[in-house]
Amino acid sequence: MCGIVGYVGTKNAAPVLLGGLEKLEYRGYDSAGIAVINDGKLNVVRRKGRVSELFSAKELKGNSGIGHTRWATHGAPSESNAHPHVYKNIAVVHNGIIENEFELKEECRARGEAFASETDSEVIAHLISFYYEGNLLSAVQSATRRLKGSYALAVLCEEFHGIVCARKASPLVVGIGQGEVFAASDISAIAAAGVDVYALEDGEFALLTDTVHFFDCNLTQIRKEKIEYDAEEETPDKKGYRHFMRKEMAEIPEVLKKSVYDFTVEAYREFYGVLKDTGQIQIIACGTAYHSGLCAKYAIESLCRVPVEVCIASEYRYLNPIVRAHTLVIAVSQSGETADTLAAAELAKSKGAYLAAVTNVAYSSLTRIADCVLPTNAGREVAVAATKSFNAQIVLLYSLASALAQAKGRQGCLTEITALLEKVKCAEEACEEVRGWVPHFLGARSVFFLGRGADYASSLEGSLKLKEITYLPSEGYAAGELKHGTLALVDSSTPVVAVITQRACADKTMNAVHEVYARGAKVFLITCFEEYCTRKEVSASVLIPACKEEFSPVLSVLPLQALAYYVSIARGNNPDKPRNLAKSVTVE
Ligand code: F6R
Repeated sequence: MCGIVGYVGTKNAAPVLLGGLEKLEYRGYDSAGIAVINDGKLNVVRRKGRVSELFSAKELKGNSGIGHTRWATHGAPSESNAHPHVYKNIAVVHNGIIENEFELKEECRARGEAFASETDSEVIAHLISFYYEGNLLSAVQSATRRLKGSYALAVLCEEFHGIVCARKASPLVVGIGQGEVFAASDISAIAAAGVDVYALEDGEFALLTDTVHFFDCNLTQIRKEKIEYDAEEETPDKKGYRHFMRKEMAEIPEVLKKSVYDFTVEAYREFYGVLKDTGQIQIIACGTAYHSGLCAKYAIESLCRVPVEVCIASEYRYLNPIVRAHTLVIAVSQSGETADTLAAAELAKSKGAYLAAVTNVAYSSLTRIADCVLPTNAGREVAVAATKSFNAQIVLLYSLASALAQAKGRQGCLTEITALLEKVKCAEEACEEVRGWVPHFLGARSVFFLGRGADYASSLEGSLKLKEITYLPSEGYAAGELKHGTLALVDSSTPVVAVITQRACADKTMNAVHEVYARGAKVFLITCFEEYCTRKEVSASVLIPACKEEFSPVLSVLPLQALAYYVSIARGNNPDKPRNLAKSVTVE
């Protein structure tokens, strides 16, 4: 949430900052701003809306500056709440949440200071200014010692040529190039500059001038290791597609080839041992990643008979979870930076769990705390709505189920997983058929997605995708639950999407189809069973290839993702940047 960028060098800072902010827009796009120092004076431009609203600031003069693109937490999206926040000679950009904002503001007000915004972040500028006695680094250290909550900070001062950065529980990297240095929320903002990149850890500081010096929490200078990254991978383009989301969906067949794991190979010997010993698995995740955990639960419990709890990370972290000897905890996170997932993972570790991280970002905070990292290798995902990373997560978790089955003396199923790779191509072609469904969804008051077992997990994901990028209210429902209350909401204006890929309960889900059809709803079916496509209750259907039933969400989710995408663009939305959302949720 929120993107930060900083620059000190010989170029004009403003265009560099704006370029970096455009790359970070996926982290938030409510408002944006930059501050540049010229001849010892701060010049600040802030605007409500997207980074493009700031382009007039390109002409600002000065070789050092900071910028920010905001995802609002405290205070509405507005120009006065946009960062940088300035107090006296200090300008600050902040990502995170200051939990003791209220007490700190009271303290500042008691000194006669007034606040110009509703944000929690502004108080940081006040505190730094209070502690500033000619040394910006020690003023930032003193101020951060007073903060409770999370922060990634970049700070400018009119009397100093450079930037001070600090981090606690919000990501921040620093880049060192030829005669120029950068700070950013993530590598994508600075990768094109071909710089050496270093990640700050919690409690660390960086002083950016002509070069960069790193410090620990006591301001003792420290050395840091460079992060390895692929500059091309970090600067993706749409490759001719209208939206990143469509491009990322098209990449799924290729991505999945890299997500099949053979855990018995040498590199996973330790992890294989953990699988052998475990009698309980907990999967912790948020949003789409939580749904991939649910898909995995059905497969692991069916194939391995090992109980799997799938926990919403924001719940897990506050519920005093029960972790036993040999509990395997799997944290699933595309970004590896989701604050709730990180906190839940840390809690699980502190209770003695072995922590495996399933993540798409090799240098993320999650990889740094995990006992074992299982990369999804899906390539950078830019669209806010997760697509290819979801498919990659479930295929990776199915591979884990296969290894676990073998570790428990059962039959593995890597062959069936590999067979999915071909079937995905056919299912992808079938996806285009959902374009014909779009007119039925455009003006719907609400939409339901129904399924049982693994189909229920896909339904939840189909529903999340639809509501997130079309803004249509929708719900994923266990088909058998509908009649216990929710059926009251169904009428002739309610499109219902049914997912049927599980033979044992196919007729049972069809019962729910009958029930909604009888109330006038139009039913759209995704199935691998041809015989259901021609039923009179079904308005339209997409036939996907049959596969080992436990793995069907890999295929059934494809038309659901496509449906959300096409309805979104038909409603005039930008599916890559849905309102109120951001790609990387680094606050609680
Ligand atoms: C929905 C979506 C979100 C994320 C969730 C977790 O399309 O993308 O629900 O899945 O915010 O993010 P990660 O996986 O980065 O932890």
